Amino acid sequence: LRLALLSGGKSSEREVSLKSGGQVFEALDKAKYDIYRYDPQTDLRQLINDAPNLDVALIIMHGRWGEDGTIQGLLDLLGLPYQGSGVMASALAMNKELSKTLYRQAGLKVPRAVFFSRQDAIDPRALEAAVGLPAVIKPVNEGSSIGVTVARHLDQLGAGIGEALAYDRRVLVEEFISGMEVTAGVLGNDALLPLPLVEIVPDKSHPFFNYEAKYLPGATEEIVPARLSPEMTIRVQECGLTAHRALGCWGYSRTDTIVRDGEIYVLETNTIPGMTATSLFPQAARAMGLDFPALLDRLVELALE
Ligand code: DAL
Ligand code: MG
Repeated sequence: LRLALLSGGKSSEREVSLKSGGQVFEALDKAKYDIYRYDPQTDLRQLINDAPNLDVALIIMHGRWGEDGTIQGLLDLLGLPYQGSGVMASALAMNKELSKTLYRQAGLKVPRAVFFSRQDAIDPRALEAAVGLPAVIKPVNEGSSIGVTVARHLDQLGAGIGEALAYDRRVLVEEFISGMEVTAGVLGNDALLPLPLVEIVPDKSHPFFNYEAKYLPGATEEIVPARLSPEMTIRVQECGLTAHRALGCWGYSRTDTIVRDGEIYVLETNTIPGMTATSLFPQAARAMGLDFPALLDRLVELALE
């Protein structure tokens, strides 16, 4: 099988993508696949030229122009199948405003949030009244907690909003939910399989599961399966399935949640979750007997189904 491995790109998660891409390359079975590597930041024209001679693509890219439907649209035009969600679900999942609306409509609980654009006037007191403090400030379209800060005091809201606005024209200020961070993987096309849950325990030196806690080796402990009761486990897995379906995802996804006092708050769905061998989704797959190379085989199979 002639496989195009796409990693890099120009999003702020480029480094994460390159790391995932390198490890995916190492893990792919060379007897099964002839692998052609592309970094869309530099090799887009080459990819377009080569497309008639390729069978399948693995998009190992995160964030904008990779996980948001744009590359998916190009591959659709080129007739090259790829793993995971299509244009619409990718775009919806990348947008924290639209995804929240769809989650809520599907009966999922989400943290309270206020959205606004660069030109809107900001009234910190009104924000505090709407979502409380501490509050989390996020760009609407980003990943890996880039541009995300936690404001604990009223006077930190302005700076946090400025930081988020550096990454996106639209930002959200969200209720800070302090609880157990649990992520719910889903695998499959029509028949969906919920994966064992992963509990995320960032070490105390990080204010939340931020970029450093995500990628600095040893900064975070992951516990699989998450330390939840069997009933709660099923409920969180169902949230993962519901979120996946609400957005129209395909192939696989990973939905991040926070569990507090028996309530499950859905934060976001990643349509191309981090794919280093020790990333959350591969860890969850391993816990049910699917090692990293076998998981990659499965994603290729699902792409070609
Ligand atoms: N956005 C990163 C890659 C993740 O969620 O795994
Ligand atoms: Mg993300």
